[in-house]
Amino acid sequence: MKLNRVLTLAFLALFAVSGLQAQSLSPDTKTRWDKGTLVVESPVRPEGQKHVVGLTAPKMKTVRVAFVGLGMRGPGAVSRFTYIPGVEIVALCDYEAERAEKCQKALRKAGLAPAAIYSGAKGYEELCKRDDIDLVYVATDWDHHFPVAKCALENGKHTAIEVPSAMNLQQCWELINLSEKTRKHCMILENCCYDWFELDALNMAQKGILGEVLYAKGAYIHNLDPFWDSYWSNPANDPDKLGWRMKYNMENRGDVYATHGLGPVAQVMDIHRGDRFTTLVAMDTKSVHGRELVEKKTGKPCPEFRNGDHTTTLMRTANGKVVEIQHNVMNPQPYNRLFQLNGTRGFANKYPVEGFTLESSHMAGTDGAPDLEDLDSHGFMSEENMKKLRETYRHPIIKKYGEMAEKVGGHGGMDFFMDVRMVYCLQNGLPLDMDVYDMAEWCCLAELGSLSMDNNNCSVAFPDFTRGHWNDVKGYKHAWATPEQEAATEAAAEAYTAAQKTAVEKLNLWALYDAAKEGDAAAVKAYEAAAAQLDAEVAIAEKAAAAAKAAAEKAYAETYSAVESAQK
Ligand SMILES: NC(=O)c1ccc[n+]([C@@H]2O[C@H](COP(=O)([O-])OP(=O)(O)OC[C@H]3O[C@@H](n4cnc5c(N)ncnc54)[C@H](O)[C@@H]3O)[C@@H](O)[C@H]2O)c1
Repeated sequence: MKLNRVLTLAFLALFAVSGLQAQSLSPDTKTRWDKGTLVVESPVRPEGQKHVVGLTAPKMKTVRVAFVGLGMRGPGAVSRFTYIPGVEIVALCDYEAERAEKCQKALRKAGLAPAAIYSGAKGYEELCKRDDIDLVYVATDWDHHFPVAKCALENGKHTAIEVPSAMNLQQCWELINLSEKTRKHCMILENCCYDWFELDALNMAQKGILGEVLYAKGAYIHNLDPFWDSYWSNPANDPDKLGWRMKYNMENRGDVYATHGLGPVAQVMDIHRGDRFTTLVAMDTKSVHGRELVEKKTGKPCPEFRNGDHTTTLMRTANGKVVEIQHNVMNPQPYNRLFQLNGTRGFANKYPVEGFTLESSHMAGTDGAPDLEDLDSHGFMSEENMKKLRETYRHPIIKKYGEMAEKVGGHGGMDFFMDVRMVYCLQNGLPLDMDVYDMAEWCCLAELGSLSMDNNNCSVAFPDFTRGHWNDVKGYKHAWATPEQEAATEAAAEAYTAAQKTAVEKLNLWALYDAAKEGDAAAVKAYEAAAAQLDAEVAIAEKAAAAAKAAAEKAYAETYSAVESAQK
């Protein structure tokens, strides 16, 4: 198996260009009018195909992962995975070979085995054909999320896709069909669902502290001026070198990056676990800043810039709740995801100020009339009380992984929570925290919003992506193994990773890898031969460690019983 780690070096030279481009509006979306609402038609579930609500896959002792897309975002994921026990990083792929190669640094630092390198526009296709990969982690530009994920699922791999994971309804439905057909997970990598404040607030909402959350707000308000020039530019379809993100915003209307704001509030609102979004209305401002940036960059007039500077989408749910989502990557504002929950008994707010307000009695000390001087519940509770409240309702994910997340980092640790939870669920054979329907519900705002705005801000009906199963599960939950199961899985994962590190050192893999990279045929052969030994050496090291552990336990038990009988 490990032979492939070297043979794929040959792909370094293989460059082809792909001009494929995604758009918010699918080419084949069918709509009809129903009393002033634009209804988007849903494709019928193919015969013999079942839904994937609560999908599980057989437990994996080791999660063998490949990363595709290693620009600004991807390398952080590679690095985070080196901290997760029971993971094997099999392959690294980027359009540009040197970006993939650079990520080997994290593996070398951790003492893990070198990964195979793939590159070029189609390198991911070869990667997906490998039979030693369980999970493909996609962090490419938006045009490539779908082709890479589709290829991974078609090749029987679980798939995790950066946000937004699908750019339009056609891609949403194709990924749903593929996940249903292959019974493989297709997860949206929505890290904001794991931010510390969002997790604690979710726990409070689930425990009823906020009452029934009726209205929620989320947003992605982030002035991207310092970033525009750093996004990758596809040589096949970006002659002005605008970079994929500016180009996408120029060509597409609607909230094209809704999931950071929407994901966390959708979990609070139990979307497709007892409730569902039914209709939306979207409205945007005209475009000013994006157009200016394009004109400055190209020196030419920009006749049309589709994405408004600020887009607002309002959604209603089947249970009569409302969610408001905003998008603004153009204007100078403090970073803001809003995350505001308005419940019947309490209120939570993350940006710009973190705070909670819980229902308090206005009647105390009066003869029935509100005390107008007591303005306590007109503001947030004190910092001290908020600290106590959050400690009381600390989310179990933070309790379990908080210390580690602080060390590993990734947007303050939330990226690590997301990755480690995905691996935990795969190792324990549990449903993932986010499924392919979450992906579709959170990503479809771009196309539905665009349809609304292109039709005088009309209401647009959401498709039911679960096709009839949004009410099967009551309430959003994170899945957990029993403590015994969890302990056994963790012990096996730790033993695997320790054994891999021992084997890598014994085989001297990194020195051989460096020599092979110089291109000398004999050195390549030597590395290939050593890499081919990796699995066998890992098994030997695991066995040796298990034997040493058993011997230590036996010795301890014998010493303990000797001490006991001496004391008698
Ligand atoms: N969740 C978050 O907090 C967060 C933060 C930043 C970015 N992102 C998302 O991560 C993704 C990547 O963003 P980025 O900032 O790293 O962009 P980037 O432009 O820095 O990187 C994109 C990378 O994809 C590679 N690529 C393009 N086509 C490819 C192909 N066919 N095969 C392999 N690689 C290919 C490019 O070479 C480039 O290295 C985007 O979807 C973005 O929205 C998410």
